[in-house]
Amino acid sequence: MSERLVLGADHGGFDLKRELVEGLREGGYTVTDIGTNSPESCDYSDFAHAVARGIIEGRFDKGILICGTGVGMSMSANRHPGIRAVNCSDVFTARYSRQHNDANVLCIGGRVVGFGLGWEIVKTFLTTAFSGDKRHVRRIGKIEDAG
Ligand code: RB5
Repeated sequence: MSERLVLGADHGGFDLKRELVEGLREGGYTVTDIGTNSPESCDYSDFAHAVARGIIEGRFDKGILICGTGVGMSMSANRHPGIRAVNCSDVFTARYSRQHNDANVLCIGGRVVGFGLGWEIVKTFLTTAFSGDKRHVRRIGKIEDAG
């Protein structure tokens, strides 16, 4: 079964989300698009929280969130225990956020990267497995130990 993906964006990420949803569906991924569905101004946290909840509740495997910079989305998603959101504008970070950090949410700045780079980032994120190394499992466990 292909991974269940959920995508959300605010107005700053709306264009890139639309292109990514199309590309992912053409690539055979199971994609749920929770909006926004227009360039009208809206609040990024509403989408970040909905995506995070969907993953925590087991309805989706991974999420992709896009706002202008990816910053507001990653800040909001990372408030949820169990969510490891990475704000990413390069392929190297996308790869290691999966291999070392087992990131489950990818955040992208729609005003930072274009479709070409965004698509490479998304493909890398979705096709790179967590290494499962003991040291990385231990370190990920400590992320939740905020005290
Ligand atoms: C919206 O103008 C912009 O602030 C938002 O898309 C995002 O970049 C916030 O982090």
